[in-house]
Amino acid sequence: MIVFGIETSCDETSAAVLDGRTVLSSIVSSQAEHLEYNGVVPEIAARAHVRLLPAVAAEALKVAGVTLDQVEGVAATRGPGLIGALLVGFGFGRALARSRNLPFAAVNHIEGHLLSPILTDPGFAPPFVALIVSGGHTEIIVSEDWHRYRILGSTRDDAAGEAFDKVAVLLSLGYPGGPVIEKAARAGRKDAFAFPRAWLKPGTFDVSLSGLKSAVRRAVEERKAALGLSPASPLPGDVASDVAASFQEAVIDVLSTRLREALLLTRAPRAVVAGGVAANGPLRERCQAVADGLGVTLHLPPNRYCGDNAAMIAAAGGLRLERGERWPLSTTPIADFSTLGLDGSPS
Ligand code: KG4
Ligand code: ZN
Repeated sequence: MIVFGIETSCDETSAAVLDGRTVLSSIVSSQAEHLEYNGVVPEIAARAHVRLLPAVAAEALKVAGVTLDQVEGVAATRGPGLIGALLVGFGFGRALARSRNLPFAAVNHIEGHLLSPILTDPGFAPPFVALIVSGGHTEIIVSEDWHRYRILGSTRDDAAGEAFDKVAVLLSLGYPGGPVIEKAARAGRKDAFAFPRAWLKPGTFDVSLSGLKSAVRRAVEERKAALGLSPASPLPGDVASDVAASFQEAVIDVLSTRLREALLLTRAPRAVVAGGVAANGPLRERCQAVADGLGVTLHLPPNRYCGDNAAMIAAAGGLRLERGERWPLSTTPIADFSTLGLDGSPS
């Protein structure tokens, strides 16, 4: 089935064409408008999607070598995400489905991340345990069968990507924080600062990252004071690198430990680590070591499918369309589309 996918939940404007599990095209336009604000500005994101999406969609068809007449289904992100941003892509998808009389899939963004290994790993299938780490989400999810999910744990405060983004601002490294922290950390010592790991009491798979962020803030302030720097001046590069490396190590410790515990509990044969933060090299290495140690097959999407992309939305939506699921064109996007609705029937 040839599926046209659309993703506009945050600041990536993306369209893709899939033929079954084969990606014919995957176009992702990352909005640069937010850089000067150190974070995504919702209204700017929505307006940028309006401006960019028609060209991104046309490019996806062109690269795929597919005409609209050949498209057999449409999939668009329903949520969670920024409501103004979601409305743009979702409305575009619904209009496309209506004008062409095509079946329409309203996709949960988190299910897109969860199933993203479909795009590259032929052997990928449930049962699996997934660590979903992105700018808005940090969750450990168990899937025993296709489209059946159980959330084992989630963050009680900051999402992993959010922590990277906030620490990057503290270090005056810019936005988005993940890639710049990873780069700075390469030159730093991961044991330079003893940042806390909030080990919540046994029996929970939740994580907490806000204490870590506060500890980084205190360490940055103390170092600046000790060096006679004003609060607004950046730390010297070598100190910033040490902070970045020590912070990154703490996040990796927490996330990889939770993944290991979940794998031990469920005895799942496969694991998935996906979402924007899954592009982090040292996190990938540590999760691979955890999986290898337990004899578990780890599915790690390549970096281009870790961050937000329409290919994963087309894949998740396409699977549901192939099962005969259909969403009425009266369906609307939902900003806080609960991850618990992942196993929900079309509504
Ligand atoms: O999945 P995604 O593109 O969007 C959301 O659904 O949130 O994730 C974006 C997040 C940002 O917080 C960004 O800083 C983080 O992923 N990220 C990384 C890396 N690349 C992106 N975090 C750590 N290391 C990276 N290399
Ligand atoms: Zn995402």
